[in-house]
Amino acid sequence: MLAEHLAFITAWLPLKAEPRHIVDLGCGTGAGTFALLDRFPEAHVTAVDTSTGYLQRLREKACARGVEERVRTVQADLDAADWPDLGTPDLVWASASMHHMAHPDRALAGVHDLLAPGGLFAVVELDGFPRFLPADAPENRPGLEERCHRATDGFHAEHVRHRGADWGRMLAAAGFTVEDVRTITVNIEGDGSEAIGRYAQGSLQRIRGAAAPALSPEDLAALDELLDTESPHSILRRDDLAVRTERTVWAARRA
Ligand SMILES: C[S@@+](CC[C@H](N)C(=O)[O-])C[C@H]1O[C@@H](n2cnc3c(N)ncnc32)[C@H](O)[C@@H]1O
Repeated sequence: MLAEHLAFITAWLPLKAEPRHIVDLGCGTGAGTFALLDRFPEAHVTAVDTSTGYLQRLREKACARGVEERVRTVQADLDAADWPDLGTPDLVWASASMHHMAHPDRALAGVHDLLAPGGLFAVVELDGFPRFLPADAPENRPGLEERCHRATDGFHAEHVRHRGADWGRMLAAAGFTVEDVRTITVNIEGDGSEAIGRYAQGSLQRIRGAAAPALSPEDLAALDELLDTESPHSILRRDDLAVRTERTVWAARRA
């Protein structure tokens, strides 16, 4: 869903030359990896994640696109003190992954050591999960989505402490020069597309566990109805969904 916005960000990066070796930290199933491969046709990407399942899916996608020779996957925990050999990249990309680190300061210092001199580190972060429903939805519990997000605040404060952190300050403290920062507002109308329904379903399903203890029984029942793919009120049946979110990208140079 966010391919166009990713393409915009990769085109915006203040690079001095086309990167040849890129490392994608916390690559997931490769949204960033493939945007980077598309943008920089001469580059190869080392894609790093803790999840062997995500890396497997990324490799399958690389084969389907015929770019498997340009991608190396590395399973690693970036919270570990020692990282495996990731080469000497001229661009490191970390999208929606740095806030997951238990010790982001240490990870940023690790990237600083890893990068080639003059290389660029792009940190892409988000304020929170995207929003999908109109404010007055669903009809029986208007405003439900916002209440679900508020209900996860306690969980995030305890378990995802670095979401919304001051990455500019942290990058500077790790020795980087922050050359530019850009916030991109995403507002994609779904027009009834199936993909947006699946994205909304997956996202709300993920926050349900964290939100449930703080939701009223009526809100929880309405959320479960939205998530029930058999229900006439299933989110998959709605034609009024949109993806609304913000991404901020910091472009930081290693001196
Ligand atoms: C929200 S996803 C972002 C995925 C991808 N970068 C994107 O923009 O779609 C965060 C990713 O970071 C990975 N991750 C979280 N903690 C990690 C760690 N300590 N070491 C390596 N990867 C980690 C997760 O497995 C997940 O794939």
